[in-house]
Amino acid sequence: LEQDVLAQIAAATDEAGLDAVRVGALGKKGSVSLMMRSLGGMSPEERQVMGPALNGLKDRLGSAIEARKAMLEAAALDLALASETIDVSLPVRPEPKGSIHPITQVMEELAVIFADMGFAVAEGSDVEDDFHNFTALNFPEGHPARDTQDTFFMKPDAEGQRKVLRTHTSPVQIRTMMSQTPPIRIIAPGRVYRCDWDQTHTPMFHQVEGLVIDRETHMGHLKGVLQDFLAAFFETDEVVTRFRPHHFPFTEPSAEMDVRYERVGQAVKVGSGDQWMEILGCGMVHPNVIRNCGLDPDEYQGFAFGMGVDRLAMLKYGAPDLRDFFNSDQRWLGHYGFSP
Ligand code: PHE
Repeated sequence: LEQDVLAQIAAATDEAGLDAVRVGALGKKGSVSLMMRSLGGMSPEERQVMGPALNGLKDRLGSAIEARKAMLEAAALDLALASETIDVSLPVRPEPKGSIHPITQVMEELAVIFADMGFAVAEGSDVEDDFHNFTALNFPEGHPARDTQDTFFMKPDAEGQRKVLRTHTSPVQIRTMMSQTPPIRIIAPGRVYRCDWDQTHTPMFHQVEGLVIDRETHMGHLKGVLQDFLAAFFETDEVVTRFRPHHFPFTEPSAEMDVRYERVGQAVKVGSGDQWMEILGCGMVHPNVIRNCGLDPDEYQGFAFGMGVDRLAMLKYGAPDLRDFFNSDQRWLGHYGFSP
Protein backbone atom coordinates (compact mmCIF):
# COMPACT_ATOMS: atom_id res chain seq x y z
CA LEU A 1 0.00 0.00 0.00
CA GLU A 2 2.73 2.46 0.94
CA GLN A 3 4.58 2.04 -2.39
CA ASP A 4 1.30 2.40 -4.22
CA VAL A 5 0.34 5.69 -2.50
CA LEU A 6 3.89 7.09 -2.82
CA ALA A 7 3.75 6.38 -6.55
CA GLN A 8 0.40 8.20 -6.80
CA ILE A 9 1.88 11.19 -4.93
CA ALA A 10 4.86 11.35 -7.27
CA ALA A 11 2.53 11.14 -10.28
CA ALA A 12 0.30 14.03 -9.15
CA THR A 13 0.98 17.01 -11.49
CA ASP A 14 -1.18 19.66 -9.84
CA GLU A 15 -2.55 20.55 -6.40
CA ALA A 16 -6.04 19.21 -7.13
CA GLY A 17 -4.66 15.82 -8.21
CA LEU A 18 -2.45 15.68 -5.13
CA ASP A 19 -5.40 16.47 -2.87
CA ALA A 20 -7.38 13.59 -4.41
CA VAL A 21 -4.53 11.24 -3.50
CA ARG A 22 -4.48 12.62 0.07
CA VAL A 23 -8.23 12.06 0.50
CA GLY A 24 -7.93 8.53 -0.94
CA ALA A 25 -5.34 7.54 1.67
CA LEU A 26 -5.71 9.80 4.70
CA GLY A 27 -9.27 11.12 4.30
CA LYS A 28 -12.14 9.89 6.53
CA LYS A 29 -12.78 6.90 4.29
CA GLY A 30 -9.23 6.67 2.97
CA SER A 31 -7.36 3.37 2.83
CA VAL A 32 -5.02 4.22 5.73
CA SER A 33 -7.85 5.57 7.87
CA LEU A 34 -9.85 2.36 7.35
CA MET A 35 -6.86 0.31 8.50
CA MET A 36 -6.50 2.54 11.57
CA ARG A 37 -10.13 1.89 12.39
CA SER A 38 -9.56 -1.90 12.24
CA LEU A 39 -7.12 -1.58 15.17
CA GLY A 40 -10.14 -1.70 17.50
CA GLY A 41 -10.92 -5.29 16.62
CA MET A 42 -7.37 -6.53 17.17
CA SER A 43 -5.88 -8.34 20.11
CA PRO A 44 -3.71 -6.19 22.43
CA GLU A 45 -0.53 -7.90 21.11
CA GLU A 46 -1.43 -7.29 17.47
CA ARG A 47 -2.40 -3.74 18.29
CA GLN A 48 0.96 -3.10 19.94
CA VAL A 49 2.72 -3.97 16.70
CA MET A 50 0.23 -2.56 14.16
CA GLY A 51 -0.50 0.69 15.99
CA PRO A 52 2.96 2.23 15.70
CA ALA A 53 3.38 0.75 12.22
CA LEU A 54 0.19 2.42 10.94
CA ASN A 55 1.01 5.72 12.66
CA GLY A 56 4.43 5.66 11.04
CA LEU A 57 2.85 5.00 7.65
CA LYS A 58 0.41 7.85 8.16
CA ASP A 59 3.26 10.26 9.06
CA ARG A 60 5.42 9.21 6.13
CA LEU A 61 2.59 9.63 3.63
CA GLY A 62 1.67 12.98 5.20
CA SER A 63 5.18 14.35 4.80
CA ALA A 64 5.49 12.96 1.26
CA ILE A 65 2.29 14.82 0.35
CA GLU A 66 3.57 18.07 1.96
CA ALA A 67 6.88 17.78 0.10
CA ARG A 68 5.14 17.17 -3.23
CA LYS A 69 2.80 20.09 -2.57
CA ALA A 70 5.72 22.47 -1.90
CA MET A 71 7.34 21.31 -5.14
CA LEU A 72 4.20 21.84 -7.21
CA GLU A 73 3.75 25.35 -5.74
CA ALA A 74 7.33 26.30 -6.51
CA ALA A 75 6.96 25.05 -10.07
CA ALA A 76 3.75 27.05 -10.55
CA LEU A 77 5.49 30.16 -9.26
CA ASP A 78 8.46 29.65 -11.60
CA LEU A 79 6.06 29.30 -14.51
CA ALA A 80 4.22 32.50 -13.59
CA LEU A 81 7.49 34.42 -13.19
CA ALA A 82 8.78 33.18 -16.51
CA SER A 83 5.62 34.18 -18.37
CA GLU A 84 5.32 37.61 -16.73
CA THR A 85 8.88 38.77 -17.31
CA ILE A 86 9.30 42.48 -18.16
CA ASP A 87 12.15 43.55 -20.34
CA VAL A 88 13.24 46.74 -18.59
CA SER A 89 15.67 47.56 -21.39
CA LEU A 90 12.86 48.12 -23.94
CA PRO A 91 12.31 51.79 -24.89
CA VAL A 92 9.22 53.42 -23.32
CA ARG A 93 6.21 53.79 -25.62
CA PRO A 94 5.40 57.49 -25.96
CA GLU A 95 2.13 58.26 -24.17
CA PRO A 96 0.47 61.62 -24.89
CA LYS A 97 -0.26 63.54 -21.71
CA GLY A 98 -3.04 66.06 -21.23
CA SER A 99 -2.18 69.57 -20.14
CA ILE A 100 -3.99 72.69 -19.02
CA HIS A 101 -5.36 74.77 -21.91
CA PRO A 102 -3.46 78.05 -22.40
CA ILE A 103 -6.58 80.14 -21.71
CA THR A 104 -7.30 78.28 -18.48
CA GLN A 105 -3.65 78.73 -17.56
CA VAL A 106 -3.83 82.48 -18.15
CA MET A 107 -7.08 82.76 -16.15
CA GLU A 108 -5.39 81.01 -13.23
CA GLU A 109 -2.41 83.38 -13.51
CA LEU A 110 -4.75 86.39 -13.49
CA ALA A 111 -6.56 85.13 -10.40
CA VAL A 112 -3.24 84.73 -8.56
CA ILE A 113 -1.99 88.21 -9.51
CA PHE A 114 -5.26 89.84 -8.44
CA ALA A 115 -5.43 87.79 -5.27
CA ASP A 116 -2.10 89.40 -4.33
CA MET A 117 -3.78 92.79 -4.76
CA GLY A 118 -6.66 91.77 -2.49
CA PHE A 119 -9.30 90.75 -5.05
CA ALA A 120 -11.64 87.82 -4.35
CA VAL A 121 -13.14 85.73 -7.16
CA ALA A 122 -16.88 86.12 -7.89
CA GLU A 123 -19.02 84.10 -10.27
CA GLY A 124 -22.09 84.53 -12.44
CA SER A 125 -23.56 82.30 -15.12
CA ASP A 126 -23.14 82.05 -18.89
CA VAL A 127 -26.89 82.30 -19.47
CA GLU A 128 -28.07 85.69 -18.24
CA ASP A 129 -31.29 87.64 -18.24
CA ASP A 130 -31.78 90.99 -19.92
CA PHE A 131 -31.80 92.78 -16.56
CA HIS A 132 -28.31 91.73 -15.45
CA ASN A 133 -26.68 91.77 -18.88
CA PHE A 134 -28.14 95.12 -20.04
CA THR A 135 -30.81 96.98 -18.06
CA ALA A 136 -29.10 97.20 -14.67
CA LEU A 137 -25.89 98.16 -16.50
CA ASN A 138 -27.62 101.31 -17.76
CA PHE A 139 -28.04 100.23 -21.40
CA PRO A 140 -30.77 102.44 -22.88
CA GLU A 141 -33.66 100.68 -24.65
CA GLY A 142 -32.66 100.07 -28.25
CA HIS A 143 -28.93 100.36 -27.60
CA PRO A 144 -27.08 98.71 -30.52
CA ALA A 145 -25.39 96.17 -28.21
CA ARG A 146 -28.81 94.67 -27.46
CA ASP A 147 -29.14 94.10 -31.17
CA THR A 148 -29.28 90.53 -32.45
CA GLN A 149 -26.09 91.28 -34.41
CA ASP A 150 -23.89 90.93 -31.34
CA THR A 151 -26.02 89.08 -28.86
CA PHE A 152 -27.00 85.42 -28.92
CA PHE A 153 -30.60 85.33 -27.73
CA MET A 154 -32.13 82.14 -26.35
CA LYS A 155 -35.65 80.98 -27.26
CA PRO A 156 -38.25 82.60 -24.98
CA ASP A 157 -38.86 80.55 -21.81
CA ALA A 158 -42.23 79.64 -20.22
CA GLU A 159 -42.66 83.19 -18.90
CA GLY A 160 -41.88 84.61 -22.34
CA GLN A 161 -38.47 85.86 -21.14
CA ARG A 162 -35.64 85.79 -23.65
CA LYS A 163 -32.43 84.89 -21.86
CA VAL A 164 -29.12 85.73 -23.51
CA LEU A 165 -25.65 84.23 -23.57
CA ARG A 166 -23.88 86.93 -21.59
CA THR A 167 -22.04 89.30 -23.91
CA HIS A 168 -19.60 90.36 -21.19
CA THR A 169 -18.73 89.53 -17.57
CA SER A 170 -20.16 92.88 -16.38
CA PRO A 171 -23.45 91.27 -15.16
CA VAL A 172 -21.31 89.84 -12.33
CA GLN A 173 -20.82 93.46 -11.19
CA ILE A 174 -24.59 93.67 -10.69
CA ARG A 175 -24.87 90.29 -8.98
CA THR A 176 -22.02 91.22 -6.63
CA MET A 177 -23.25 94.70 -5.71
CA MET A 178 -26.74 93.34 -5.05
CA SER A 179 -25.47 90.62 -2.73
CA GLN A 180 -22.50 92.19 -0.91
CA THR A 181 -21.99 95.35 1.07
CA PRO A 182 -19.00 97.55 0.19
CA PRO A 183 -16.04 97.64 0.36
CA ILE A 184 -16.08 95.31 -2.66
CA ARG A 185 -13.00 94.10 -4.44
CA ILE A 186 -13.65 91.24 -6.85
CA ILE A 187 -12.61 89.79 -10.17
CA ALA A 188 -14.95 87.60 -12.22
CA PRO A 189 -13.32 85.38 -14.83
CA GLY A 190 -15.48 83.53 -17.35
CA ARG A 191 -16.76 82.83 -20.84
CA VAL A 192 -18.66 85.41 -22.85
CA TYR A 193 -20.39 85.22 -26.23
CA ARG A 194 -20.75 87.50 -29.22
CA CYS A 195 -21.60 86.80 -32.82
CA ASP A 196 -18.18 87.65 -34.28
CA TRP A 197 -15.39 85.83 -36.17
CA ASP A 198 -11.97 87.04 -37.36
CA GLN A 199 -8.29 87.01 -36.37
CA THR A 200 -8.96 88.67 -33.02
CA HIS A 201 -12.64 87.66 -32.49
CA THR A 202 -14.28 84.32 -31.74
CA PRO A 203 -18.00 83.81 -30.91
CA MET A 204 -16.99 82.50 -27.48
CA PHE A 205 -14.17 84.21 -25.68
CA HIS A 206 -13.02 84.95 -22.14
CA GLN A 207 -13.04 88.00 -19.95
CA VAL A 208 -11.95 88.87 -16.47
CA GLU A 209 -14.14 91.52 -14.89
CA GLY A 210 -12.80 93.63 -12.06
CA LEU A 211 -14.87 95.67 -9.63
CA VAL A 212 -13.87 97.88 -6.73
CA ILE A 213 -16.55 99.74 -4.75
CA ASP A 214 -15.59 101.85 -1.75
CA ARG A 215 -15.99 105.38 -0.40
CA GLU A 216 -12.99 107.12 -1.93
CA THR A 217 -11.98 105.26 -5.04
CA HIS A 218 -10.81 107.23 -8.07
CA MET A 219 -9.42 106.87 -11.58
CA GLY A 220 -5.82 106.92 -10.27
CA HIS A 221 -6.49 103.71 -8.36
CA LEU A 222 -7.86 102.14 -11.53
CA LYS A 223 -4.78 103.06 -13.54
CA GLY A 224 -2.42 101.92 -10.80
CA VAL A 225 -4.13 98.53 -10.46
CA LEU A 226 -4.01 97.96 -14.23
CA GLN A 227 -0.35 98.98 -14.50
CA ASP A 228 0.68 96.75 -11.60
CA PHE A 229 -1.30 93.94 -13.12
CA LEU A 230 0.35 94.25 -16.55
CA ALA A 231 3.86 94.37 -15.05
CA ALA A 232 3.13 91.19 -13.08
CA PHE A 233 1.46 89.40 -16.00
CA PHE A 234 4.13 90.17 -18.62
CA GLU A 235 6.89 89.97 -15.99
CA THR A 236 8.42 93.25 -17.15
CA ASP A 237 8.05 97.00 -16.63
CA GLU A 238 8.61 97.55 -20.38
CA VAL A 239 4.95 97.08 -21.39
CA VAL A 240 3.86 100.25 -23.22
CA THR A 241 0.17 101.05 -22.84
CA ARG A 242 -2.17 103.78 -23.91
CA PHE A 243 -5.40 104.86 -22.29
CA ARG A 244 -8.04 105.98 -24.80
CA PRO A 245 -11.30 107.73 -23.86
CA HIS A 246 -14.24 105.54 -24.78
CA HIS A 247 -17.91 105.06 -23.99
CA PHE A 248 -19.68 102.34 -22.04
CA PRO A 249 -23.20 102.85 -20.66
CA PHE A 250 -22.12 101.48 -17.27
CA THR A 251 -19.01 103.61 -16.65
CA GLU A 252 -18.37 107.35 -16.66
CA PRO A 253 -15.74 108.35 -17.56
CA SER A 254 -14.82 105.30 -19.64
CA ALA A 255 -11.59 104.26 -21.31
CA GLU A 256 -10.00 101.48 -23.26
CA MET A 257 -6.45 100.33 -22.76
CA ASP A 258 -4.18 99.21 -25.58
CA VAL A 259 -0.84 97.42 -25.44
CA ARG A 260 1.90 98.16 -27.94
CA TYR A 261 3.08 95.16 -29.93
CA GLU A 262 4.52 94.08 -33.25
CA ARG A 263 4.34 91.08 -35.52
CA VAL A 264 7.69 89.36 -35.92
CA GLY A 265 7.38 86.73 -38.64
CA GLN A 266 4.55 84.49 -37.51
CA ALA A 267 4.67 85.68 -33.91
CA VAL A 268 3.42 88.59 -31.86
CA LYS A 269 5.80 90.51 -29.58
CA VAL A 270 4.96 92.89 -26.71
CA GLY A 271 6.99 95.95 -25.69
CA SER A 272 8.08 97.14 -29.14
CA GLY A 273 6.61 97.97 -32.54
CA ASP A 274 3.94 100.35 -33.71
CA GLN A 275 0.76 98.27 -33.43
CA TRP A 276 -1.80 98.59 -30.64
CA MET A 277 -3.96 95.77 -29.34
CA GLU A 278 -6.99 96.67 -27.28
CA ILE A 279 -6.98 94.50 -24.18
CA LEU A 280 -9.61 95.97 -21.89
CA GLY A 281 -12.41 98.41 -21.26
CA CYS A 282 -12.72 100.24 -17.96
CA GLY A 283 -14.00 103.29 -16.14
CA MET A 284 -15.62 104.67 -13.00
CA VAL A 285 -18.85 102.81 -12.24
CA HIS A 286 -21.82 104.91 -13.43
CA PRO A 287 -23.97 106.33 -10.57
CA ASN A 288 -27.06 104.82 -12.24
CA VAL A 289 -25.53 101.35 -11.96
CA ILE A 290 -24.73 101.85 -8.30
CA ARG A 291 -28.30 103.07 -7.75
CA ASN A 292 -29.75 100.12 -9.74
CA CYS A 293 -28.03 97.80 -7.26
CA GLY A 294 -29.62 99.51 -4.25
CA LEU A 295 -26.52 101.46 -3.15
CA ASP A 296 -26.25 105.22 -2.67
CA PRO A 297 -23.94 106.76 -5.31
CA ASP A 298 -23.29 109.73 -3.00
CA GLU A 299 -21.83 107.34 -0.47
CA TYR A 300 -20.11 104.81 -2.70
CA GLN A 301 -18.24 104.91 -5.96
CA GLY A 302 -15.66 102.76 -7.61
CA PHE A 303 -14.12 101.48 -10.81
CA ALA A 304 -14.57 98.49 -13.06
CA PHE A 305 -12.66 96.89 -15.88
CA GLY A 306 -13.21 94.00 -18.25
CA MET A 307 -10.22 92.46 -19.96
CA GLY A 308 -9.98 90.11 -22.88
CA VAL A 309 -8.20 87.05 -21.52
CA ASP A 310 -7.66 85.57 -24.96
CA ARG A 311 -5.98 88.73 -26.24
CA LEU A 312 -3.69 88.74 -23.20
CA ALA A 313 -2.84 85.11 -23.95
CA MET A 314 -2.07 85.96 -27.60
CA LEU A 315 0.29 88.72 -26.50
CA LYS A 316 1.97 86.70 -23.79
CA TYR A 317 2.50 83.60 -25.91
CA GLY A 318 3.05 85.37 -29.24
CA ALA A 319 0.19 83.57 -30.99
CA PRO A 320 -0.98 85.60 -34.01
CA ASP A 321 -4.51 84.18 -34.48
CA LEU A 322 -7.04 83.92 -31.67
CA ARG A 323 -9.06 81.24 -33.47
CA ASP A 324 -6.17 78.78 -33.07
CA PHE A 325 -6.79 78.70 -29.33
CA PHE A 326 -10.08 76.90 -29.91
CA ASN A 327 -9.18 74.54 -32.75
CA SER A 328 -7.87 71.79 -30.42
CA ASP A 329 -4.94 71.18 -32.77
CA GLN A 330 -2.34 69.22 -30.81
CA ARG A 331 0.48 70.38 -33.11
CA TRP A 332 -0.41 74.03 -32.46
CA LEU A 333 -0.70 73.52 -28.72
CA GLY A 334 2.63 71.66 -28.78
CA HIS A 335 4.33 74.44 -30.77
CA TYR A 336 3.33 77.02 -28.15
CA GLY A 337 4.54 74.71 -25.40
CA PHE A 338 1.09 73.84 -24.08
CA SER A 339 1.34 70.08 -24.57
CA PRO A 340 4.31 67.68 -24.76
N1 PHE B 1 -17.99 94.99 -20.44
C1 PHE B 1 -17.12 95.74 -21.31
C2 PHE B 1 -16.91 94.95 -22.59
O1 PHE B 1 -17.28 93.84 -22.68
C3 PHE B 1 -15.79 96.01 -20.67
C4 PHE B 1 -15.89 96.86 -19.46
C5 PHE B 1 -16.01 96.29 -18.23
C6 PHE B 1 -15.84 98.24 -19.56
C7 PHE B 1 -16.07 97.07 -17.08
C8 PHE B 1 -15.91 99.03 -18.45
C9 PHE B 1 -16.03 98.45 -17.22
O2 PHE B 1 -16.34 95.45 -23.54
